[in-house]
Amino acid sequence: MRILLLGSGGRENALAWKLAQSPRCEKLFIAPGNAGTARFGTNLDISLSDFETIRRTCIDEQIDLVLVGPEEPLVKGVTDFLISSPSLVHLDVIGPGKAGAQLEGSKAFAKAFMMRHQIPTAAYREFTLDNFAEGVEYLKKHPLPIVLKADGLAAGKGVLICENHLEAIAEFELMIQRAKFGEAGKKVVVEQFLKGIEISVFVLTDGKNYVILPEAKDYKRVGTGDSGPNTGGMGAVSPVPFVDKKLMWKIEEKVIRPTVEGLRAEGLEYRGFIFFGFMIVDDEPYMIEYNCRMGDPETEVVIPRLKNDLVELLEAVTGQQLDKVTIETDPRTACTVVAVSGGYPGDYQKGYEITGIDKINPEDSLLFHMGTVEKNGKVLTNGGRVLCITSYGRSVYDAVDISNEEMEKIYFTDINFREDIGYEFK
Ligand code: AMP
Ligand code: GLY
Repeated sequence: MRILLLGSGGRENALAWKLAQSPRCEKLFIAPGNAGTARFGTNLDISLSDFETIRRTCIDEQIDLVLVGPEEPLVKGVTDFLISSPSLVHLDVIGPGKAGAQLEGSKAFAKAFMMRHQIPTAAYREFTLDNFAEGVEYLKKHPLPIVLKADGLAAGKGVLICENHLEAIAEFELMIQRAKFGEAGKKVVVEQFLKGIEISVFVLTDGKNYVILPEAKDYKRVGTGDSGPNTGGMGAVSPVPFVDKKLMWKIEEKVIRPTVEGLRAEGLEYRGFIFFGFMIVDDEPYMIEYNCRMGDPETEVVIPRLKNDLVELLEAVTGQQLDKVTIETDPRTACTVVAVSGGYPGDYQKGYEITGIDKINPEDSLLFHMGTVEKNGKVLTNGGRVLCITSYGRSVYDAVDISNEEMEKIYFTDINFREDIGYEFK
């Protein structure tokens, strides 16, 4: 099977690592990839918004399967674009079409979907310019804190948690009247604040059946003890120690099954990953968000714990045979620690040389590249999140300790990482 993987982060490095292990993978291309994915396949310098070049590449390289990593091409309809091409009738794409990707592409769509299928979630209202004044009145009486969500994709920045009414009204105005998060963000979801513990659960569905992958918890804040601004994720652990069979049963029966059945009932064809973001409140799961893809850095702990052959799993998706698959999971704990550029998530420099990559002990650890690029034989920083080290251990404590130790071998100017990933489970 000839596979094209779209994306360039740590998620794609972990997926490329796993795909390349399969005897079913004859040839792997990654577009655009990073210095890490290049070790497992051929990187192609293609922009993910250039659907036509992606289509041409599928034809020229006789691609059988496209696996889409990030949300943006999915929300913009890359799946529909590729499968509707008359010269690509045999092509399979893992990742929903534009309609299904709305689960992530529109917060208002996702909330309405949850309501239609009685999926537990925070109470909410939706506002636009048309009912702006009503929205301001609603906010004035809303209990604190208030959660504001821009409807469309906003590169992970579209959710605001406001601690007072003045701030909430000011932000609401900026979003609706001044398009702070672009045109799609002029629709705002105002949501009840849920206090609990967040976890992520990943499902692979063929549109009819689904399998549940190992759960994970990520650490979004840049600083120790979950302080400072939000990032794309500074680390992750899997499994999540407090998630037991009873909670997973509730998650499956109250959320996962109604979601997959709901998509089907509404005629939203969906073949791909669904990322369920939960807030667990008093042992009850509440849906915070859907993503139409795997998480990053969660993939870097979920995929290393997956024992199944990933290509076979993806073939089961395209053949709608997931009911015949059993997920096998490595019982060890996997933790990943992310090294970021100094200044991230604010401004940061790129282009610093990274040393020590070849010194990582492969016995217990895996190094995945995130924002890196190779130039003249050197690996350089090329993004905010630069690389991550995933380690296996008997416990969160063990695994994080190993990753932290290995991370000491890595150097680039202004390197920063959190040493306390998984701190609440130690
Ligand atoms: P989202 O982009 O929807 O995942 O939201 C980003 C982050 O905001 C989540 O990971 C939560 O930490 C937080 N968040 C979103 N919605 C709520 C809510 N209703 N209550 C509390 N925190 C929330
Ligand atoms: N780590 C969160 C995400 O991938 O959206």
